[in-house]
Order: sequence, then C-alpha cells, then structure tokens
Amino acid sequence: MSMMMTQLHLLVLLLFVAAAAKDDDGQRQLQCHSDDEAALLAVDAALGSPYHFASWTPDTSCCDWYDVDCDADSGRVVSLTIFQDANLTGAIPDAIANLTHLRSLLLRHLPSLSGEIPSSLAALTSLTQLTISWTAVSGPIPDFIAELTALESLDLSFNSLTGAIPPSLAGLVNLSGINLSRNRLAGAIPSALFSNLDQQQADVYLWLSHNNLTGAIPPEFAAVSFAHVDVSRNQLTGDASPLFRRGRYVDVSRNGFVFNMSGVVFDEEVTYVDVSHNAIRGGVPAQVANLTSLQMFNVSYNKMCGQIPAGENMARFDAYCYQHNKCLCGAPLANACRH
Ligand SMILES: *[C@@H]1O[C@H](CO)[C@@H](O)[C@H](O)[C@H]1NC(C)=O
Ligand SMILES: *[C@@H]1O[C@H](CO)[C@@H](O)[C@H](O)[C@H]1NC(C)=O
Ligand SMILES: *[C@@H]1O[C@H](CO)[C@@H](O)[C@H](O)[C@H]1NC(C)=O
Ligand SMILES: *[C@@H]1O[C@H](CO)[C@@H](O)[C@H](O)[C@H]1NC(C)=O
Ligand SMILES: *[C@@H]1O[C@H](CO)[C@@H](O)[C@H](O)[C@H]1NC(C)=O
Ligand SMILES: *[C@@H]1O[C@H](CO)[C@@H](O)[C@H](O)[C@H]1NC(C)=O
Ligand SMILES: *[C@@H]1O[C@H](CO)[C@@H](O)[C@H](O)[C@H]1NC(C)=O
Ligand SMILES: *[C@@H]1O[C@H](CO)[C@@H](O)[C@H](O)[C@H]1NC(C)=O
Repeated sequence: MSMMMTQLHLLVLLLFVAAAAKDDDGQRQLQCHSDDEAALLAVDAALGSPYHFASWTPDTSCCDWYDVDCDADSGRVVSLTIFQDANLTGAIPDAIANLTHLRSLLLRHLPSLSGEIPSSLAALTSLTQLTISWTAVSGPIPDFIAELTALESLDLSFNSLTGAIPPSLAGLVNLSGINLSRNRLAGAIPSALFSNLDQQQADVYLWLSHNNLTGAIPPEFAAVSFAHVDVSRNQLTGDASPLFRRGRYVDVSRNGFVFNMSGVVFDEEVTYVDVSHNAIRGGVPAQVANLTSLQMFNVSYNKMCGQIPAGENMARFDAYCYQHNKCLCGAPLANACRH
C-alpha cells in the first residue's frame, strides 16, 4: 500500500514536472519570421510610424507586438487587428499583403483610414476573416475578394463603399457571414449568393441595411438558412417572402416591398420579423399565432387588411406593431372587425 502511494506520488511529481516543462515551453517567446517583421515594419512606415505601433520595435519578437498574433506552431503572423485610433491616417498599406500567412485581418474604428481597398490584398489567400469597418475607405467592393477562397466572414460595414455587390462573392464556398451595412451600395443583391456554400445547412448571416440597393430578393434565398438577415433601409422591391422560408431573424423594414403577406410561410423557429414601412398587402397569416419563439412581429406602415389572428403568443405584440395599415382589424387594434 505504502509502496503504491510512493509510486503514485512519484507519478504525480513526474506529471507536475512534465506539465511545468511544457508550460515553460509554451511561454517561450515565439520567434518572429523575418519576412513578417519586414512586412509589419513596412506597414508601420506606410502609416507614418504612428504612436499606435510604438511597441513595434525590432528588439522584440513581432509576435509580441501590439495588434499582432502568431501561430504557435509555425510562428508566422496569422492575425493583424488594428482597432480604434482616430490618429491613424492614410490608405490601407500594400505591405499588409506581404503577411502571407495572415488568416484574420481586422481594421476597425479607424475613421481617418481612407482610399480604396487595395488589390494587393488579393495575395492573402489564407484569410478566413476580413473586416474593414468604421473607416473612411471608399470605392467599390473589389472583385478580387472572390479570390480569397478561404473567406468565412466579410465585414465591410460602416464605410463609404459605392457600386454593386460583386456577384463573384457567390463563388466563396465558406463565406457564410457578410456585413455590408451602412455604405452607399447600389444595384441588386446577387441571386447566387450563398448558393455554393460547402455546407448547405450552414447558418448564414447577412447585413445589408442602410444602402441604396434595388431590385428583388432572389427567389433562391428561400433555400438559405438565415440565422440573421437585415436588408432594412434600402430601395428593394417585389417579394420579400423568400427570406421568411428559413429566416429566424428577418428585418426587411423601410423598403419598397410589394407582396401578399397572406401566403407567407415562416420558419417555425423565427424570433424576429420587421416588415414595417413597405407596401405589403394581404393579411396576417394564421401561422403567426403558432410561432412560439416569435418575440417581435412588426407589420406597421403597410397596406394590409383583415383580422389579426388571436392566440397566446399574439399578446406579445401591441397595436404599434399593426398601426398604419389599410384595414387590419381586431385586437390589439381598437377597431373591431365587421363580419
Ligand atoms: C492622437 O493624437 C493626440 C494628439 O496628438 C494624442 O493626444 C492622442 O494620445 C493620440 N491618440 C492615440 C490613440 O494615439
Ligand atoms: C513585399 O515583399 C517584397 C519581397 O520581400 C518586397 O520586394 C516588396 O517591396 C514588399 N512590398 C511592400 C509593399 O512592402
Ligand atoms: C472550407 O471549410 C472547410 C471546413 O473548415 C475546409 O475543410 C475547406 O478547406 C474550406 N474550403 C476552402 C476553399 O478554404
Ligand atoms: C454588422 O453590422 C451591423 C450594423 O449594421 C451590426 O449590428 C452587426 O453586429 C455587424 N455584424 C458583424 C458580424 O459584425
Ligand atoms: C441613395 O440614392 C439617392 C439618390 O440617388 C441619394 O440621394 C442618397 O444619398 C443615397 N443614399 C445612400 C445611403 O447612399
Ligand atoms: C392575398 O392572397 C389571398 C389568398 O392567399 C387572397 O384571398 C387575397 O385576396 C390576396 N390579397 C390581395 C390584396 O391581393
Ligand atoms: C396551429 O397549431 C394548432 C395546434 O397545434 C394546429 O391545430 C393548427 O393547425 C395550427 N395552425 C396553423 C395555421 O399552423
Ligand atoms: C413597429 O414599427 C413602427 C414603425 O417603425 C414603430 O413606430 C413601432 O414602435 C414598432 N413597434 C415595436 C413594438 O417595436
């Protein structure tokens, strides 16, 4: 017994020593690859060596520099996150493209960052996440983004981008999150977007609000599993119902949609529906009273008619959710239906 205890103690001690050694190893400073260091120093120089990069000095490993992350195995720079600095002025440096192992590039809340998205970024084919958001970057969404084949998330929201959404984005088989809100984009929503996804059942996130998009919702979107879709405040027209088929959070408010709501079928798990400020006809589908997950249902400022269905869930929605329609009637509205 005491022998066993001793052995156990020894084992615990050995494990402890092994763990300590590994810990030490894990904390060892990652060596910076000289190509990555050169690229980062070129980024710093291109932006005028701002205070933001004060820690970027060659006497330390670039893996320890502010905003920089290296892969623990390869030691290569895989992530660059430049966040929140109004002093950082200039265009997106081409030198970023020399960080050839980059998987995540995030430039956010940099209101003095301007110019177009440089074509040099096409070289960053390992990127899974590209965020350029809350900047003064302008010009088009470049077609070359379709060459970033590993891309999973693209956030270009809150910029001054113009032109159309490139249909070539539909070729990106892992791109399931797109945020292009708050730009000045025009033209139609590409119909093939999300239709080539590697995992057809993947949850899709799409933000396009506050742009100048026109045209219809692609009928193909009825097959897309939207966890969140927001196309509010554009100039979209026609039928929005493809978004409801498999959409769980759907905001189509403040557009020019014209369709008959009576025939719409919602996803059973839908939680949020805002269709306010359009020109939607027909009535509230009876199915709505059965949607137990539904927390928000706003059909105000449309041209709808008929009796609002009754049911337990319907108590969640007050008269403001139905106001300013043509002839909706019944509770919670004050006007009773005439039979
Ligand atoms: C921006 O510049 C101002 C004035 O030079 C300075 O006081 C401030 O600390 C700078 N901010 C950052 C984040 O570098
Ligand atoms: C990128 O790296 C190449 C080769 O090291 C170099 O010639 C080029 O000037 C670099 N580009 C930028 C924009 O720094
Ligand atoms: C898409 O993602 C899957 C799963 O992560 C991965 O195996 C595949 O290589 C990716 N495709 C591309 C083109 O990067
Ligand atoms: C996309 O932009 C919207 C604002 O329009 C914001 O609420 C949302 O969090 C953004 N999504 C992502 C994934 O960044
Ligand atoms: C949309 O277009 C109209 C007219 O072309 C323009 O006045 C408006 O500023 C644009 N809005 C946005 C958000 O770009
Ligand atoms: C909407 O469709 C229903 C049948 O689903 C029909 O009874 C109704 O007249 C239509 N309403 C309008 C305004 O077209
Ligand atoms: C609502 O649910 C009830 C009970 O499960 C069912 O009988 C009815 O057919 C449903 N109505 C609609 C419109 O889905
Ligand atoms: C529904 O939308 C209208 C119009 O935008 C708004 O006034 C109202 O407050 C909304 N209702 C709720 C419950 O958010």
